[in-house]
Amino acid sequence: MTGKTLLWDQTLFRRGELFEFDYIPEHFAHRDSQQRSLIFGVRPALHGMRPLNMLCVGPPGTGKTTAARKAFEELGEHAPGVVTAHVNCQASQTRYTIFSQIFQRLIGHAPPTSGVSFKKILDEIAKYLIQNEKILIVVLDDINYLFHEKEADNVLYSLLRAHETHPGAKIGIIAILSDDSLSYVFDPKVGSIFLPEEILFPRYAWDEIKSILSDRAKLGFYPGVLSEDVLDVIVDYTSEAGDLRVGIDLLKRSALNAEARASTSISEDDVRLAYRKSRILHLSRMIASLGSGEQAILAILAKRAGAKEQTAGDLYATFHESTGLGYTRFHAMLHKLATLRLIDAEIATEGMHGRSRRIALKYDSEDVLGAMQSRSL
Ligand SMILES: Nc1ncnc2c1ncn2[C@@H]1O[C@H](COP(=O)(O)OP(=O)(O)OP(=O)(O)O)[C@@H](O)[C@H]1O
Ligand SMILES: [Mg+2]
Repeated sequence: MTGKTLLWDQTLFRRGELFEFDYIPEHFAHRDSQQRSLIFGVRPALHGMRPLNMLCVGPPGTGKTTAARKAFEELGEHAPGVVTAHVNCQASQTRYTIFSQIFQRLIGHAPPTSGVSFKKILDEIAKYLIQNEKILIVVLDDINYLFHEKEADNVLYSLLRAHETHPGAKIGIIAILSDDSLSYVFDPKVGSIFLPEEILFPRYAWDEIKSILSDRAKLGFYPGVLSEDVLDVIVDYTSEAGDLRVGIDLLKRSALNAEARASTSISEDDVRLAYRKSRILHLSRMIASLGSGEQAILAILAKRAGAKEQTAGDLYATFHESTGLGYTRFHAMLHKLATLRLIDAEIATEGMHGRSRRIALKYDSEDVLGAMQSRSL
């Protein structure tokens, strides 16, 4: 098919909606054990019992949100006594807005905007659950956005204590944490009652990425649009970023690039051109999820124009000056940035100590600063 020309009203997309991020795939492969754990945890609710609390942890683009949505899809058919509320904590970053979202999901309209206290909203939610004999499961998706000012602790505490403040209310929590590590720390008063089942979402392996993207392309494009060789290039880029979203975005953008050249198939150049954009998208999302200390490290690295690479010792000096934080925190943050593949932290051959490590950004400085800028707007 290569070389054929597309007519102006023709398209490569058989089903374009398959390349949108909120699309829930019919076929959700390579996540069977996570899916089973989720179902196992919510199953008690089918028999009128409080479900187990769960915590899904894994890096970006590993299927956490999709797994929760699929589990509810399955549950929905069998559980008339269960209501679910999937809250996006990036969009709702305070306890008040989160409970307003839950209220809206249950009652069907938002609470009156002014003069309603948090307590009143919680009262109404609990009253609804008790009167209608419903069990509520709340998904706190991307809960890392609530780690500022202990908001996550406040939200969890209010949900976990609801059965004491409102006897008879049954609420379960599925928290989703976009992180590589289990390094989160909840407040002790929450930690002692949350005790979630932890469900880990590791990065997809190269051939898993290939099978998922190949499936998506087969359903979403017309036959002959994507050759196996070009698919492999997309899988390489996706695997390097470690985020399946990059792959799906690449499929979409490279097909649009091919269309723009009026070609009936995607070329490697279409992919390379698309990758510049997909990479920035991925970068912005990752930066948005970081804490202020980690962002400070990236900013320092990015602002040293010309010296893209520097030693951990230099970097720490500047970091300490601007944040006042100590070496242990700095070290943990470096580790996180390296696992997120935002920086390279190589041990320099001439040095024997951690402090002589050379630290380098894995992205262009301008892209990093650009992504931070767009965040603060
Ligand atoms: N196993 C899979 N099969 C098919 N599609 C998948 C699979 N896992 C993830 N996806 C797709 O990849 C994209 C990212 O998945 P998802 O949003 O669930 O990731 P996530 O772990 O919630 O990421 P983040 O932490 O950034 O929110 C979605 O478009 C989803 O459809
Ligand atoms: Mg998600």
